Amino acid sequence: MIEHLKKLNEDALNRIKDALDLPSLDTIRVFYLSKKGEVSLMMGKLRELSQEERPAFGQKVNEVKEQIELAIYEKKQAIENVELLKTLEAEQIDVTLPGYQFYQGGVHPLNQVIEDLEDLFVGLGYEVAEGPELENDHYNFEMMNLAKDHPARAMQDSFYTDENMLLRTHTSPVQARTMLAKKGEPLRIICPGKVYRRDSDDPTHSHQFIQTEGLVIEKGLSFANLKDALLKMVRHLFGPERVIRLRPSYFPFTEPSVEVDVSYIKKDGTIGYIEILGAGQVHPDVLRMGGYDPEVYQGFAFGVGVERIAILKYNIDDIRHFYTNDLRFLSQFKGINR
Ligand code: PHE
Repeated sequence: MIEHLKKLNEDALNRIKDALDLPSLDTIRVFYLSKKGEVSLMMGKLRELSQEERPAFGQKVNEVKEQIELAIYEKKQAIENVELLKTLEAEQIDVTLPGYQFYQGGVHPLNQVIEDLEDLFVGLGYEVAEGPELENDHYNFEMMNLAKDHPARAMQDSFYTDENMLLRTHTSPVQARTMLAKKGEPLRIICPGKVYRRDSDDPTHSHQFIQTEGLVIEKGLSFANLKDALLKMVRHLFGPERVIRLRPSYFPFTEPSVEVDVSYIKKDGTIGYIEILGAGQVHPDVLRMGGYDPEVYQGFAFGVGVERIAILKYNIDDIRHFYTNDLRFLSQFKGINR
């Protein structure tokens, strides 16, 4: 019987050694180690032995069992390693192949100007406010002190969808909307956004453009506060050496009103001025319509053309470049200012 056990052990180890894959290894395991397997059969044979012989033989059978288990375990590891290596080999990647090329976009120059303005004014305690582009006549004109038959409406002809709705002609209606929303509380906002006017497109005009409105309402504001805000903006945008010039002007919603020019060095070395925005102290009627007592609160407002700023800043010769999405133009502004 010992002979038989030895033979069984040798056979098992040989078969394990020769096994090529996990399924055949498992077949071997079942053949020897399962409940009705060869090793269990040998255990059953114990009964045929005398009391004295049993312990020694039992121990032998156990040793054989352990050897087979160990051999199967080791063989299993070996087969798995080989399979892993095969998979790694098959899935190898060639890191020297050229990769896909991803093009990195940039922020549109007009958005760069808007972000730049937001950075400055948010730092000065302003909030950013927005309003609809399809606007009510009431907010676009009447709340801005331009009654239905006001002649100044002619300066801002627009696109109407019906008698009362139009594409807003300026960002000023956001002033009215914010004043009503704040219900008499002091406020500081800037409002960037698209505006529309009936205009023939040419190198300096576009029927659609972008403005950024500013509005501050507080107690004890004077014209000096407006001038300070404007100078800060101009120097932030164009550099600390710039000065501004205020020329008296007219807007129905501000009184007094000014046009603001910014200084630049002309080719011959002398100083010139270019108009960049309109501004003024908020008209008492506009304050009143917005829910503020003009005896208690003062306000100032300004409206700047974003394209104007970008044109001056980057020396652009045609406003239409901003809208045609030509990458040769746009890619020149990647990383400027940021
Ligand atoms: N809304 C004016 C325009 O579009 C600009 C402006 C805004 C002027 C605020 C004064 C105060 O022409």
